[in-house]
Amino acid sequence: MTKPAPRKVDMEKLVSLCRRRGFIFPSSEIYGGLSSCWDYGPLGVELKKNIKQAWWKTIVQERDDMVGLDASILMHPQTWEASGHLEGFKDPLVECKSCHLRWRIDDIKGNKCPSCGGELTEPHLFNLMFKTFIGPIEEEASVVYLRPETAQGMFVNFENVVNSTRKRLPFGIAQIGKAFRNEVTTGNFIFRCREFEQMEIEFFVRPETAKQWFDYWVEERLGWYVKLGIKRENLRLHQHTKEELAHYARECYDIDYLYPMGWAELEGIANRGDFDLVQHAKFSGKSLVYYDEETKEHIVPYIIEPSAGVDRTALALLCDAYDEDIADGEKRVLLRLHTDLAPIKVAVLPLSRRENLVSLAKEVYADLRRHFMTQYDDAQSIGRRYRRQDEIGTPFCVTIDFQSLEDKQVTIRERDTLNQIRLPIAELKNTLQAKLAGEELFVLPPGGSIWKEGENG
Ligand code: GAP
Repeated sequence: MTKPAPRKVDMEKLVSLCRRRGFIFPSSEIYGGLSSCWDYGPLGVELKKNIKQAWWKTIVQERDDMVGLDASILMHPQTWEASGHLEGFKDPLVECKSCHLRWRIDDIKGNKCPSCGGELTEPHLFNLMFKTFIGPIEEEASVVYLRPETAQGMFVNFENVVNSTRKRLPFGIAQIGKAFRNEVTTGNFIFRCREFEQMEIEFFVRPETAKQWFDYWVEERLGWYVKLGIKRENLRLHQHTKEELAHYARECYDIDYLYPMGWAELEGIANRGDFDLVQHAKFSGKSLVYYDEETKEHIVPYIIEPSAGVDRTALALLCDAYDEDIADGEKRVLLRLHTDLAPIKVAVLPLSRRENLVSLAKEVYADLRRHFMTQYDDAQSIGRRYRRQDEIGTPFCVTIDFQSLEDKQVTIRERDTLNQIRLPIAELKNTLQAKLAGEELFVLPPGGSIWKEGENG
């Protein structure tokens, strides 16, 4: 593996950029925030939507062995008995007898409170699932849980999907949705939240092919992050030891990312064997056996589960995209985000606020926004507007100048290369579309010219 490049970003810089530019805010901030809960602002919501769209396109739209699902967050409470979450989804905690702070055993060294040095209680187990009630009476019979993973919705719908789609093995169910964990260890921005989003696949296979599919999905998922622009040297695979394996897993690899605080899990890929279908069959009394019409066999499929987090992916992408360089003799901060992920694809910038220029710029803006997330900005110097767009990762700026009024041509300025291309307005939409799709324009459109920012056009 290549040595990771020195990082230009630390968590403090990133949190500050995210807040200042409207990517991510602390939840309910006017009340002092809520620990480990975050709100995605105007740019964050676009980034998150683009991540989910990229995942769905690769996993569901472009495959014929996958179908989607959107199961409800609240599930029958027996689900969590069958899955082992009621019994096993617990962290051992100790409490400080003086300041009453609670600590995960793994997070403390020695037997004193890390905060005040006070004496600690004996460890007790703490379930990470959030409990709530269904119906108006708070009685034990109506307790339900906020799901701590989306996975169970897919296991309990296995039969529904087989019967309604007639999918044959091997096939998968994919789902994106919220999950909730009453995490004890908090901090590190959106890396560990109490409310977060998962993008999970449950891939059902014949048991004898499980190892082969497991290896396939590890490579496939690693490749997805690289395709989205994360540097390969900032990703690594970590195989779980026997002690690290979850109760349901036979084999598991984490895809780790080198976050500013060090290597940590971005996605887990597990071979869950037949654990889930056997457990849900046992607790529901329904047979979840698959009948293979070709071989006339009854099989309990094995499940390969690639389980990714939207928030951790957003954090990894932001860290990886962050860069500082020099443009036009000035330091600039930029996010080198993949064009599919950039919250704003195009910015329209009139060189001045002169009326005839603004009216042409607004015409161009009105046309482009029908096709791409587009921003209009006419405040301050053109250099400052470029910097503002660089900092939020906008791949293309379109500048309208006085000559545009005469020749009906505009300039596209590229975030990464600083190249500027002048071309007719009539060619603008198609050119941007091609560039956003990653096509290099070897042939300029008729009447076009090319130069670099800071050089004369
Ligand atoms: N169904 C398997 C499962 O949920 P997991 O390793 O506990 O496995 C899968 O979670 C992914 O969900 C993680 O790799 C991570 O990306 C994300 N995730 C888990 N807990 C999280 C948290 N508290 N905050 C943000 N993301 C989290």
